[in-house]
Amino acid sequence: MEFTKVAEKNELLPNTMKMVVVGGKEVLISNVGGEFFAIANKCTHLGGSLAKGSLEGGIVTCPRHHAQFDAKTGQAVAEAKLGFIKMKVKDEPSYEVKVEGDSILVGMNE
Ligand code: FES
Repeated sequence: MEFTKVAEKNELLPNTMKMVVVGGKEVLISNVGGEFFAIANKCTHLGGSLAKGSLEGGIVTCPRHHAQFDAKTGQAVAEAKLGFIKMKVKDEPSYEVKVEGDSILVGMNE
């Protein structure tokens, strides 16, 4: 697995998130209670950018139809809502994160 530096720790305050590109893929990195995590940035529903949504209590909410994902694991925890219609969404892929000194690195298989 190859690890790529994506940010400095101080760029990501607790309970904030940021989109980075690793190996051509959009990745959402987040700081949940001082620990760093990475999941795919593209919503598994209709491709909304999760970085433009919100992060609260370790849960990311998509800005488009409010599907929710666990920022640590990518697990879908709430359905997308289109008006009164609720739609199940798939889990987001998650990626390994390593901290080396002040740097945050994301690992991806080639
Ligand atoms: S695109 Fe994310 S909930 Fe629809």
